[in-house]
Amino acid sequence: GASVEVDVSKLQPGEKVVVEWRGKPVWVMRRTPEQLASLEQVESQLADPASDRKAYPTPPYAKNRHRSIKPEILVAVGICTHLGCSPVDKLQPGPQPSLPDDWKGGFLCPCHGSTFDMAGRVFKNKPAPDNLEVPPHHYVSDTVVLIG
Ligand code: FES
Repeated sequence: GASVEVDVSKLQPGEKVVVEWRGKPVWVMRRTPEQLASLEQVESQLADPASDRKAYPTPPYAKNRHRSIKPEILVAVGICTHLGCSPVDKLQPGPQPSLPDDWKGGFLCPCHGSTFDMAGRVFKNKPAPDNLEVPPHHYVSDTVVLIG
């Protein structure tokens, strides 16, 4: 069918899996407490911290700081909202090539340098016009999320 089920109970803290939904890579990630804490720390550096932009509308249930239903579980389309490249993981805090010295962790698009936080929110002054897309999803049990 068109929907994809993921059992998030198998995800370790900090672990991300990629599933395919309608031909798109969808990330399902269990964020660590440190990664969740970073979301507040970077908020002033983001272009659209409340996910109000409409290029890729954020579902109401993900219009929050962590952009998710369960705070620790991120579900996002792993395609840059600029021209469709795949952002790569830059999950470690601290200085990293082509990232600010105070980098708290997130994702980097290798094509034109858009950066995203641990909730897929784009940083200011980047070519990507919107945060990463959150696909429609809901939990069918405490541990199983259905995408689509
Ligand atoms: Fe990602 Fe251009 S495609 S920054």
